[in-house]
Amino acid sequence: MAKTSSVVLPPFADPLLAWYDRNKRDLPWRENPTPYRVWVSEIMLQQTRVEAVKPYYFRFLAALPTVHALAACPPDTLHKLWEGLGYYSRVRNLQRAAELICRDYGGELPRDPEILKKLPGIGSYTAGAIASFAYGVPAPAVDGNVLRVLARLLADRRDVTDPRVKADYEAAVAAALPTDRPGDYNQALIEVGATVCGPNTSPACAACPLVGVCRAHAEGVEDELPYRAKKKTRKIEKRTVLLVSDGTRYLIHRRPTSGLLADLWEFPAIAGHASTAEVAAYMKELGLPLRFITEGKRAKHIFTHLEWEMSSYRIDTDFSRLATDSPLLRDERGDLTPSPAGDWMLATPSEIHEVYPLPSAFSAFLSEIGGEPPC
Ligand code: ADE
Repeated sequence: MAKTSSVVLPPFADPLLAWYDRNKRDLPWRENPTPYRVWVSEIMLQQTRVEAVKPYYFRFLAALPTVHALAACPPDTLHKLWEGLGYYSRVRNLQRAAELICRDYGGELPRDPEILKKLPGIGSYTAGAIASFAYGVPAPAVDGNVLRVLARLLADRRDVTDPRVKADYEAAVAAALPTDRPGDYNQALIEVGATVCGPNTSPACAACPLVGVCRAHAEGVEDELPYRAKKKTRKIEKRTVLLVSDGTRYLIHRRPTSGLLADLWEFPAIAGHASTAEVAAYMKELGLPLRFITEGKRAKHIFTHLEWEMSSYRIDTDFSRLATDSPLLRDERGDLTPSPAGDWMLATPSEIHEVYPLPSAFSAFLSEIGGEPPC
C-alpha cells in the first residue's frame, strides 16, 4: 500500500520541468542514463561534490563498463579506482551488490525500488534515483538537496535529519510525480537544490521556478531553514604516521579486514603523538634498525564520526637487517615475508601510487614520498 504523508506539495510540476529543460547542467551521468551509469554516479555523489566526481566517474566506467566487470574486479584495482574519493565502504558495497546482481538478476539492475533497496549500499534515495532516472519508474528520490528545497517550500521547521521527515517527503513526492517524466521531476528538484536553493549562501530566490509557491520565501525565513538538530561532536584521535624507508622502498601495512578503512594499505602508525624515543621503541618492536629520524608534517583527516590529528616522522632504515623474530615475518594472513598478500609490504613510491590503494586520509604524506600520484 502507498505510504501517506502529512504534507502535500503544491502542483508545480509544469514550471519545474520547463525550468529544468532550460537550465539543467550537462552532467556525464545524464547522458545515456543506463541503470549501471546512474548507480555508479549516485554512489560516487553520496559524499563527494559533482566537480570532484567527474574524473573518477569517467575513469571508473572506462575500466569497469559493466556490472559483470565490476563484480569481477580484483579488490586492490577497485580500491585504486576509488582512491581519493574516500568512504571506501561505498565501493566495497558497490562490488558486493554487483556480485548479487550477477548471481540473482543476470547482471541487470532490478527496476523495482523495493528490490533495489535490499542490495548493499542502496538506500531509498539511490533506489528511487536508479528506478526513476534510468527506468522511468515513478519512485521518489529525496536526497539532501530535495530535503532542503522541500523544507523551505513548505516552511517546515521540523528537524530534516529525522528519518520521519524524509519519509513524509518521499510520500509527498510519490503522490506528486508526473507519470510521464518522474525521473526528470526528481532530478529537477535536485537541480533546484544544487544550483538555486543552496545550502551555504542565501538561496537565489529570484532565479527559482518555485518562488511563487515557496512558503519560506513568503514568510522571509528561507535563510533559517532547513532546521537541523545539532550533531554530536566527532571523536578526535591523535596518531603518529611513520614513513619508514631505505631510500628505495617504504614500509606499508594492511589494515584489519573489518572496521574503518578495512583492508586498505596505510603507512604504519602509532596511537597518540609519539616522541622520537617512543618511535625508536616501536622500530625495535618491528625489528628494524633506526638509522636516522626527522620530524615530518602534520595533517588532519575528517571521517564522518572521527577525526585523525596526525603527526609524522621520516625514518631511514635498512630492510636487509630485519630481525629474525620481527612481527613483519609473522604474518596473520600466513605469509612469511612482506608481500602483497600479507599484512606488511615494502613498496616503491610508484607502486604505492599505482598498485596499493592508500586512503585519502594519507594524501598529505603521499605527496611527501616522491613518485607521481595518478589523479
Ligand atoms: N547530487 C546527487 N545526485 C545528483 C544528480 N543526479 N545530479 C546532480 N547532483 C546530484
